[in-house]
Amino acid sequence: MAEAYFLKHPSQEDIKKKIEGFPAWLEIDLDALTHNIKQVQKKVGVELVPCVKSNAYGHGLVPVVAHMMTLGIKRVLVAKLYEAQQLREAGLDCGIINMDPLFSDEKFNEVVDQNITQTVYLQKTADKLDTAAKNRGKIVSVWIKIDTGLGRVGVRWNDAIELIKSVSTLPNLKIEGLFSTLSENLELDKIQLERMKQISAELDELGIKYGVRSMASSNAIFHEPDTYLEAVRPGIMLYGLYPEPKDREKHIDLKQCFTMKARIEQIKTIEPGESLTYSKRFTATKKMRVGTLHIGYSDGFPRGLTQKGKVKVGDHIKPVLGTVSVNHTLIDLDDTKVEVGSVVEAISQQGENDAAHTAETAGIMIYSLMVGMNFLLPRVFIKNNKKHYSYQI
Ligand SMILES: Cc1ncc(COP(=O)(O)O)c(C=O)c1O
Repeated sequence: MAEAYFLKHPSQEDIKKKIEGFPAWLEIDLDALTHNIKQVQKKVGVELVPCVKSNAYGHGLVPVVAHMMTLGIKRVLVAKLYEAQQLREAGLDCGIINMDPLFSDEKFNEVVDQNITQTVYLQKTADKLDTAAKNRGKIVSVWIKIDTGLGRVGVRWNDAIELIKSVSTLPNLKIEGLFSTLSENLELDKIQLERMKQISAELDELGIKYGVRSMASSNAIFHEPDTYLEAVRPGIMLYGLYPEPKDREKHIDLKQCFTMKARIEQIKTIEPGESLTYSKRFTATKKMRVGTLHIGYSDGFPRGLTQKGKVKVGDHIKPVLGTVSVNHTLIDLDDTKVEVGSVVEAISQQGENDAAHTAETAGIMIYSLMVGMNFLLPRVFIKNNKKHYSYQI
């Protein structure tokens, strides 16, 4: 099923032609994704339930999940019901755990009809889902979210047994997992883990089945092996991105998956004293060649790169000049031979302008950089060492 997804794409030649028309796009190296998944699997030795929320952290949900499925991934985690539906519409039949809360009958019915696993932490949600499943003659899987100490969402740990006991009696629901989000504070995480273990031990005594227990996302995969339990939920690290510089000390070798590319839409030569962009933010001190890239902060190239960003033009790293605006970014093109239409790496896969450096320069977290990637940017996916292209717009 998942392999077939890639076979449905246009020929390499057609895709190359399409790319020629893209002013800006993301290139996603699915071989790097394979590498990262294998690294994490080797490290944890338990089931990986990848977090693919926010359009797979900007990488493009459907092709990323299709590729993960070819690597044996059985279920993924989404934050929006819409994302779960996108996966089903693409014909992908993996398990999908939806974390979006449900507020209308229509949404409950969609979860049932599309065979989606729903996160449950309120009795009311469980009851309504059970009724929707019963009305449609189906059994729906649920993962129970437990708040073991983060205080965000989830049934509070001391109320968990009562809720789970009750859910286990609902004939049209099947509990397939218990999960909780750690607070990423070593001391509190230990307490949270103990709370989860206590709950599962009590359920064992009561003979209530709960499937897998899951607590660890990327941070805990790097730093807290005790929390792996039966399933881990990595997000950012699968895309080859370290949440923080300290994570690199843990020697999990990850490869950034994406490159952000943009074409030069105009080139001009300016004189000393001439200024560029809003508020005269940049003033030339010499005669210089300047290029306008067709990419801006609406695309996901952060505004915080104003006067500070770096892009890769051929082999040169060149500075951003003046303000990054909604759709445009100006760069220094001195000593380069590029022309209008030439491709520049706004964010490279490695080096001085990779994602980590870019986020740091812009003063944002790597997470913000990734979830800020506009859905409208075309994505080009590269699989099997560039021998096979596919794309999704
Ligand atoms: C419940 C849950 N699990 C796992 C993750 C993945 O986290 P990370 O990207 O830090 O690995 C997230 C992301 O926010 C999440 O909300």
